[in-house]
Amino acid sequence: MEFFECIKMRRSIRQYSDRSLFMDDIEKIVDAGRLAATARNEQPWEFIVITNRDRLLELGAIVSPNGALVKGAAAAIVVLCRDTKYYLEDGSAATENMLLAATALGIGSCWIAGDKKDYCQKVLEFCSVPPGLSMKLVSIVALGYPEDASAFDTEKPKRRLDEVLHIDRFGRKKE
Ligand SMILES: Cc1cc2nc3c(=O)[nH]c(=O)nc-3n(C[C@H](O)[C@H](O)[C@H](O)COP(=O)(O)O)c2cc1C
Repeated sequence: MEFFECIKMRRSIRQYSDRSLFMDDIEKIVDAGRLAATARNEQPWEFIVITNRDRLLELGAIVSPNGALVKGAAAAIVVLCRDTKYYLEDGSAATENMLLAATALGIGSCWIAGDKKDYCQKVLEFCSVPPGLSMKLVSIVALGYPEDASAFDTEKPKRRLDEVLHIDRFGRKKE
């Protein structure tokens, strides 16, 4: 898929079919995450892939209500980062790369909030992160083929380019 088409097609997809994902594709998605920009090249991330149905149900319950959609996903990738200065930016860059990689593969995805949520510690325990390691939960990426094939075509209200684009200084618009 052409790069800008992929960016335009990416949508948060929250309803998935029963079709399972190939591990090869999940690995391609994680690979896109690990290649993201990262401050000082620290690469503080770890990616925990969950595909077991019972584990997905358990994770979905922990991150409910906003992340309950994980229960119906074919997989979830928990994005953890060491507690570095730029962990949130690094983990977020990795997360977005993974959403785009999933889109390019025709796989639906949704970013579920991590950092700032009161379930962070529970998710670390769920992932069996050793208690001595200072890790942060940045996000959880839910994955699955869309239940509705037209999900990628859904119109989503987005701010217009000419509204958000400023030339040289705030408020100066392209002539
Ligand atoms: C930091 C962050 C946290 C998010 N958390 C959730 C979440 O917990 N549950 C959810 O369903 N969507 C979540 N989303 C997805 C947003 O709701 C979604 O990106 C937004 O509505 C725009 O829609 P789009 O992704 O289809 O363009 C999150 C997105 C970001 C960037």
